[in-house]
Amino acid sequence: MNTKVLNGLAALGGVVAAAAIGATVMIATGTYNVAATEPHARPVEWALRSTMERSVREQAEAVAVPAGVDVRDPALAARAIGHYSVACAGCHGAPGSERAPWMVLYPEPENLTRAEVVDRWSDGELYWIVKNGIKDTGMIALGPTHKEEDLWAVTAFVRQLPTMPKSDYEALVAKYQAEHAGHAHR
Ligand code: HEC
Repeated sequence: MNTKVLNGLAALGGVVAAAAIGATVMIATGTYNVAATEPHARPVEWALRSTMERSVREQAEAVAVPAGVDVRDPALAARAIGHYSVACAGCHGAPGSERAPWMVLYPEPENLTRAEVVDRWSDGELYWIVKNGIKDTGMIALGPTHKEEDLWAVTAFVRQLPTMPKSDYEALVAKYQAEHAGHAHR
């Protein structure tokens, strides 16, 4: 190896070591601000979001939509109205409404009625997110407490949200509430 390459490697090693020491000092002294109201530095935010997106794509690769499940079937989505309106809408909004104003989270949960948010995920990836949740973000996992058919119904619901008219959503909620008056959500 010539001296130029060696000097380059030494400089790179120095930068890596300095970054590692900087991070350790920050962790040890508590100077990094974990407040949900204070965004991460741009590179940290990029690293976390990229980790999440790549992880979901990798983990969900083996997910296959079961035979007989059509995530574009409105009847399948309708079965998830209780789940979505009770367990998701407060964070992710619904046709005609934003998330609850007090749901101040970081990272911010996206509004799932926006096509560009939902369309970047395949059906298997949406199912994986709903089933497993996302670490350290507030995104919940339904897998441990819900049946497979419910997970696919919620997946269908999310897939159809961007094109679901407000009147359809509100009619489903009204029907669900009438049927479940006096019962806790299960
Ligand atoms: C307490 C708030 C909260 C609840 C409740 C919640 N989520 Fe999330 N969800 C989040 C957050 C925060 C993220 C963003 C995670 C990230 O950016 O890494 C997220 C991400 C997602 C994503 C990926 C969207 C994207 O950012 O590209 C989907 C899909 C999703 N949630 C669906 C659901 C569904 C369906 C439910 C109900 C079963 C639900 N979530 C309930 C907070 C929540």
